[in-house]
Amino acid sequence: MSAITSSTFPAWVVRDGEGGTSAALEQVTPDLLEDRGTTVRVLYSSLNYKDALALHGRPGVVRRTPLIAGIDLTGEVSASEGPALPPGTLVTLDGAGLGEEHHGGLAALADVRAEDLVVVPARFSAAQAAAIGTAGLTAALAVDALERHGLTPDAGPVLVTGAHGGSGGLAIALLAGAGYEVVAATGRPEAADRLRALGAQSILDRAELEAPSRPLARERWAGAVDAAGGQVLASILASLRCGGAVAAFGLVGGSDLPASVMPFILRGVSLLGIDSVRISPQARRAAWDRLSRDLDPSLLDAITRVVPLAAAKDEAAALLEGRGTGRVVVQVGGRVSYRGTAAG
Ligand SMILES: NC(=O)c1ccc[n+]([C@@H]2O[C@H](COP(=O)([O-])OP(=O)(O)OC[C@H]3O[C@@H](n4cnc5c(N)ncnc54)[C@H](OP(=O)(O)O)[C@@H]3O)[C@@H](O)[C@H]2O)c1
Repeated sequence: MSAITSSTFPAWVVRDGEGGTSAALEQVTPDLLEDRGTTVRVLYSSLNYKDALALHGRPGVVRRTPLIAGIDLTGEVSASEGPALPPGTLVTLDGAGLGEEHHGGLAALADVRAEDLVVVPARFSAAQAAAIGTAGLTAALAVDALERHGLTPDAGPVLVTGAHGGSGGLAIALLAGAGYEVVAATGRPEAADRLRALGAQSILDRAELEAPSRPLARERWAGAVDAAGGQVLASILASLRCGGAVAAFGLVGGSDLPASVMPFILRGVSLLGIDSVRISPQARRAAWDRLSRDLDPSLLDAITRVVPLAAAKDEAAALLEGRGTGRVVVQVGGRVSYRGTAAG
């Protein structure tokens, strides 16, 4: 592993423990990393729901141990086997098995596949790219899927659930930036101003979607982006307009789907599954092109907090309790401050 010069570096490492896994901030040596061709000096990571599960010993994310947690990273290439990414190139990587089957971004160094990396678009700083992270990538993939299905801004209102969370919030901003009428569904309607600032035109209390729905309810949404799953997703399906679609990627409200086939066979609605992890490099770059085009960096700043690496586990607890708000960027490299004057 060529260009790693540090003898040790800090990393959140998930290890097997009594009754499951547990994560701790450790000083590790570079030989822990796999040689995957490109070494990145990590400047920032971020916290997503999956990171919260991994850091708190919940099952379903970490596929092997010991494993460095963190499904996102943004940093500078320090060495690469191919010529395409010269040292110093600012790159970002979300998903692609990071923090699940490969060592992830909650560490000062990472070794990754060059083809998974995206060069950070000029519109964003390093910290803003980290704030986008998996949440923004997923939001962009969801909007892509809806548009491939035929959704256009003049089709009618688009519902977004998980609105105060990372993926939901960025879906609101992206859709509004592209001219859609966005309705934000939230469990915290009292904080609606924040969602309006992101571009939501109106607010729906999530409780309306959590009540068991009839198989076919009033047709309301031309499209929807869903972070919740469970009864919320079933209610969305029942109230999509004829030919509408919902892009579903989350399960904060449950992994079951207590729905009926009626909306599919009587209204021709579609359920579009979104997986941000196993996507092609082309799809990843197309999603970043959309983010670069439609996401206003100042909106991103308004919903982002920066925390030090040591605080990652404590900060992640709020996500597990459904109290996540906006995006939490984890400062790893220590060289750059979020809105500071230094590089980044
Ligand atoms: N498939 C993929 O590739 C992919 C990628 C990214 C994320 N995800 C999944 O998407 C979901 C959201 O991820 P995230 O990182 O955006 O999480 P997050 O930042 O923690 O946001 C989740 C939001 O969901 C809402 N919520 C909380 N409890 C809920 C409940 N019981 N029912 C319905 N909504 C609830 C809350 O917003 P309000 O208070 O505004 O309602 C919360 O802020 C997670 O399940 C995550 O695993 C999947």
